[in-house]
Amino acid sequence: MDRVIIFDTTLRDGEQSPGASMNPAEKLRLAKQLEKLGVDVMEVGFPASSRGDFESVRAIAQKIRSVQITALARTSRDDIDKAWAALRDAARPRIHTFIATSDIHLKHKLNMTRDQVVREAVEAVRYARTFTDNVEFSTEDGTRTDKDFLCKVFGAVIEAGATTVNLPDTVGYAMPNEYAQLIAYVREHTPNIHEIVLSVHCHNDLGLATANTLAGLGAGARQVEVTVNGIGERAGNTSLEEVVMTLYTRRDLTALSTGINTNEIHYTSRLASMITGIVVQPNKAIVGANAFAHEAGIHQDGVLKHPMTYEIMKPDMVGIVSNKLVIGKHSGRHAFRQKLADLGYDLGDKELDRLFKKFKELADKRKEILDEDIEALFAEEILRVPDVYRLEYLNVVSGTVAVPTATVKLWIRGQEAQNAGFGVGPIDATFNTIAKMTGTRSELLRFSVNAISGGMDAQGEVIVRLKENGLVALGKGADPDIITASAKAYINGLNRLEYLKRNPTLVPEERTI
Ligand code: KIV
Ligand code: ZN
Repeated sequence: MDRVIIFDTTLRDGEQSPGASMNPAEKLRLAKQLEKLGVDVMEVGFPASSRGDFESVRAIAQKIRSVQITALARTSRDDIDKAWAALRDAARPRIHTFIATSDIHLKHKLNMTRDQVVREAVEAVRYARTFTDNVEFSTEDGTRTDKDFLCKVFGAVIEAGATTVNLPDTVGYAMPNEYAQLIAYVREHTPNIHEIVLSVHCHNDLGLATANTLAGLGAGARQVEVTVNGIGERAGNTSLEEVVMTLYTRRDLTALSTGINTNEIHYTSRLASMITGIVVQPNKAIVGANAFAHEAGIHQDGVLKHPMTYEIMKPDMVGIVSNKLVIGKHSGRHAFRQKLADLGYDLGDKELDRLFKKFKELADKRKEILDEDIEALFAEEILRVPDVYRLEYLNVVSGTVAVPTATVKLWIRGQEAQNAGFGVGPIDATFNTIAKMTGTRSELLRFSVNAISGGMDAQGEVIVRLKENGLVALGKGADPDIITASAKAYINGLNRLEYLKRNPTLVPEERTI
């Protein structure tokens, strides 16, 4: 079977989703999971876009050794220098440089002629080749580019040393057969294109990203650029899990394979959602909560008689294990450490003690502790930014007759403080009281609650998005009590805002693409 290269861009294009801000520790955690998932190439940032991106790329390049690590750069020497400075410690670095090629972009955005674009692209690739022999070049807005000009640009950059060329459908405009024809045309009319890897990169504005990506593969491309859960700018990018599972499930037709460990898909999706705060829609293919749920009686009856009546994939193929009870109230520190190691965490004794204490508290409230619960604890206790505010105590009175009242005890910069306040509901009362006590004036842009796992005693996971003085931060909190989870999320968001105020270099600069 032909092998398809999986180029994951969750940490670069995916991170461009509105609201998907990740701190460097969270990016590294997700990168480790992507390594376990088995991606071939990981695009982990755009170093010239912010100091925070630069540092994340550098940290991942130093730690992830078995995957090619790449970073994005415009064609300027400055961008390429920054990309290389961030990537230079990687075991297998790749520089990914790009320029727009469509007439619309040339005229209205770049104010350049076609000849200037070719010159600039060639110079960028030549320059990138002085650092590494692994260089990718992308023609931004490729699908709206004149096809002969596209071949001219690709031919020139291949001659200059590009080892992968990528044809993005940047605005999600192409139709599957049109994209396939364009890929076929480029393969036929670009000199030496068979010597290098041809890649596809699609956006989902018309809901066609997966179809277009598969069409591109059908026409001969052998690298796909994808993101976990399909997150990305606007309607998102092609979703990794959809492409991988289609290739696997319909290998009878495609005769293509990938190196993905499919049983890591479900967990990677959960982790990406937890870290980015972007909730997966329940009916999302492969990773949505309902993707394998059979509701109709006829279907349930059929599945009970034989799963293949209505199931084209087995849930355990993507890592959904129905009896995956792991550890509980009676588990000791050793079993807990082992479980963390299985999940890919290697904690020092101090961190382990902290997490074990929280685990025991949770195990007292819940019968079963699932991997998702441990991830939530980890995100809350270990990945969090240094605390300025910490919740000590919360008592809420609410109901059909009482005026909702919250009494809150907080640690604020090491000092204990207590206060009470009202609101239109228990969560409003809690947030008002915390805001009053901390003297913060953040605006609540988003609030969402989800059950982390199934069952009546599931933990609630709350995500808030807060804005204060132009800074935006996500806050996350989990607890079996959703009002406590909300308070934790709100305080986590306030801590992140404080962290951004103290570390302005981590505030993403205005993106230029
Ligand atoms: O969509 C796009 O064109 C991109 C390129 C920078 C590869 O993300
Ligand atoms: Zn893109």
